[in-house]
Amino acid sequence: MDITIIGTGYVGLCQAVAFSDIGHNVVCVDVAKNKIDMLNNFIEEKSDKLPIFEKGLPELIKKNSARLKFTDNLIEGINSDAIFICVGTPSNENGEADLGALKNVCISIGKNLSLSNKEHALIVTKSTVPIGTHKLVKNIIKQYTNRDFSVVSNPEFLAQGRAMKDSIQPSRIVIGKDNGFAKDTMYKIYKPYEDKGIKLFFMGNTDAELHKYAANAYLATQVSLTNNLANLARAAGADWNKVKKAILEDKRVGRFVNASSGFGGSCFGKDVRELIHSFGRFNVDNSLLKEVINQNIKQKEHFIPRIEKYLSGLEDKRICILGLAFKAGTNDIRGSAAMPIIKGLISSGARINAYDPEAIEETKKELQNFEGKEKITYYNSKEEALEDCDVVLILTEWPEFLEPDFELIKSKLKKAAIFDGRDLFDLKKIESFGFDYFSIGRPDLTK
Ligand code: UDX
Repeated sequence: MDITIIGTGYVGLCQAVAFSDIGHNVVCVDVAKNKIDMLNNFIEEKSDKLPIFEKGLPELIKKNSARLKFTDNLIEGINSDAIFICVGTPSNENGEADLGALKNVCISIGKNLSLSNKEHALIVTKSTVPIGTHKLVKNIIKQYTNRDFSVVSNPEFLAQGRAMKDSIQPSRIVIGKDNGFAKDTMYKIYKPYEDKGIKLFFMGNTDAELHKYAANAYLATQVSLTNNLANLARAAGADWNKVKKAILEDKRVGRFVNASSGFGGSCFGKDVRELIHSFGRFNVDNSLLKEVINQNIKQKEHFIPRIEKYLSGLEDKRICILGLAFKAGTNDIRGSAAMPIIKGLISSGARINAYDPEAIEETKKELQNFEGKEKITYYNSKEEALEDCDVVLILTEWPEFLEPDFELIKSKLKKAAIFDGRDLFDLKKIESFGFDYFSIGRPDLTK
């Protein structure tokens, strides 16, 4: 099949490569000429840089380069069997999804559809869009063309750090459609997935749009609940790591039971906020999800007072922060607890030594307008970052942080104290090295 993907972010690029890997020809369109140039330079082996860092992506682009085309001109992809919209839908200031990019794409499709050699075009929204957006997509395109077309809602479920894997082997494929043509064409596109044992779910457009938000709302709510329970465990003298292991045996409960400094990433916060607005639009009580967001904000910031208390103030203290990415396996820092924590610690007088294996450049960009940025020093290794610090705070579960050289950490820090935003270490082990230890879901260990 011939497929066009508009938008070469995490979703668009990974899905495009996954489609090419099962034999479809894919034209990737993006208005960002620099991204298109980068991708073309990569394919032509002029550079090894890609716009995003995702495991497996470089190898698969190379493997399937004959079936992939990158362009900033939509006309080159107008004849495809399906045109997938994969542009970003970031939150605007009040938390609603900003559909500006999506609307522009719809106008552009509408204006160019008369050039298509297909009798009936298929427009597929893969971007996460508010409930009811399929109607908006249809209405906008209709304003610019007389050609026949159908709109399909086909949400993605990929998680960063495993986006390539999730695009090739998604947990399920959800297809919202309103006619047989749309169903048949989508079935042909996804048949190779079904052959691999992946279930296809056909439903209405609104069902598919809601499905995406429901999935993220379940997951985000579970993270907030997990963190609430872990906070309780700490206060009550229980060990959340032991509690969660047994909880996982109950198959009715999900798997997001790992305590953390709150959820981050580009989806949970954005999608739950948008869903809160959808509840409002349909006059349904939305207080549960509002609290999911509130709890998450508090969870992200809660280490600031704990560190301040331990050090009897933050003035002139130096804190080592290991982990800037919102989770391991990605260079994305959107929604990462590290950002509010760095800002909070610095505004109370501290200096920061920061290290992350992938996310330093992204952090520098994010904090370029932060007035305390001079108080952050970035290092190329965790060992260097620890030097001369009072305490260390670990925020991301990168594999290289999981089994550290505790003697080395102790020798570098002024105070033998670890703040652990991921509950990574065994309490007995930590105690045997003589650390003061502050985690999320276990009581504090102090000498
Ligand atoms: C998520 C969904 O998993 C994915 O299906 C959807 O398409 C996009 O949003 P992503 O944001 O990449 O993907 O990351 P995910 O692995 O789900 O983690 C989200 C956040 O929750 C991270 O900050 C993570 O550290 C946190 N988390 C996750 C926890 O704090 N505890 C857990 O047990 C699981």
